[in-house]
Amino acid sequence: MKTKLTKPFILRCFLVSLFLSLPFVLYLFFSPQQQQPHNSVTIKDLRIRPGYNSYESYIQRQLNKTLNPRLRKIWTTRDWDRKIPVFARFFQDLKDNKLIQNTSKALCIGARVGQEVEALRRIGVHDSVGMDLVPYPPLVVKGDFHNQPFQNNTFDFEFSNVFDHALYPARFVAEIERTLKPQGVSVLHVALSRRADKYSANDLYSVQPLIHLFGNSDLIHVRSVDGFGLDTEVAFRKKGQPPPPPPHPF
Ligand SMILES: *[C@@H]1O[C@H](CO)[C@@H](O)[C@H](O)[C@H]1NC(C)=O
Ligand SMILES: *[C@@H]1O[C@H](CO)[C@@H](O)[C@H](O)[C@H]1NC(C)=O
Ligand SMILES: *[C@@H]1O[C@H](CO)[C@@H](O)[C@H](O)[C@H]1NC(C)=O
Repeated sequence: MKTKLTKPFILRCFLVSLFLSLPFVLYLFFSPQQQQPHNSVTIKDLRIRPGYNSYESYIQRQLNKTLNPRLRKIWTTRDWDRKIPVFARFFQDLKDNKLIQNTSKALCIGARVGQEVEALRRIGVHDSVGMDLVPYPPLVVKGDFHNQPFQNNTFDFEFSNVFDHALYPARFVAEIERTLKPQGVSVLHVALSRRADKYSANDLYSVQPLIHLFGNSDLIHVRSVDGFGLDTEVAFRKKGQPPPPPPHPF
């Protein structure tokens, strides 16, 4: 039997669908991103997490993790012995591939208590320093990765496993490219296949956004790693002519 679609029936369907789509429409209008027009850079496969109403609230949240006494205790005791040998192996491998040398000036970004710095020093890269919102002398100096406290062309090598904490990923990358010397190497460990922690400010779904953001660098390699929840290593080399070696003293 053919159902007769009466006018009131169609009208009712229309109203019901309108009602059902209401939450979606409201979300579009009132989602937190709307309050962050300055944060509107969206690249496919890279999503900024909503919920930070100001840079101040973002920094406070990051500090909350960095200052957590329980976490700091773990980082400097149990984690210290467990993680440094693993970092040392990652760096030794980069060294074997000529991406770092003993004489490299190296920076670890978001280094917390400096485990990565200690690992670099142990494999012979002595001119290494870490940077984080909270200093941890002598290994880690105070600095914001969105605004590094270093001059242009300072480092031969930069490492970070905190890309997911960047609220402004383009700024994070631009600061690496600014402070690296031409031909300097940057290595990121990122999570592609699982979501990072609740302190993350972005989610990355492929390496494409990184390749896009590192516009002033050439991709060296992408490979799998087993890095404490981070599964992918991406290495870049900054473009440009390296500075000439200093003149021979004799
Ligand atoms: C972090 O935030 C929690 C609640 O959100 C608060 O109780 C705690 O004191 C904060 N910790 C630090 C180190 O700021
Ligand atoms: C680099 O440092 C390591 C560890 O200190 C040392 O064993 C190695 O011989 C050094 N390599 C060079 C080329 O100086
Ligand atoms: C440092 O690099 C940035 C970005 O590449 C550039 O805009 C700026 O002019 C440079 N500053 C100096 C002092 O060269």
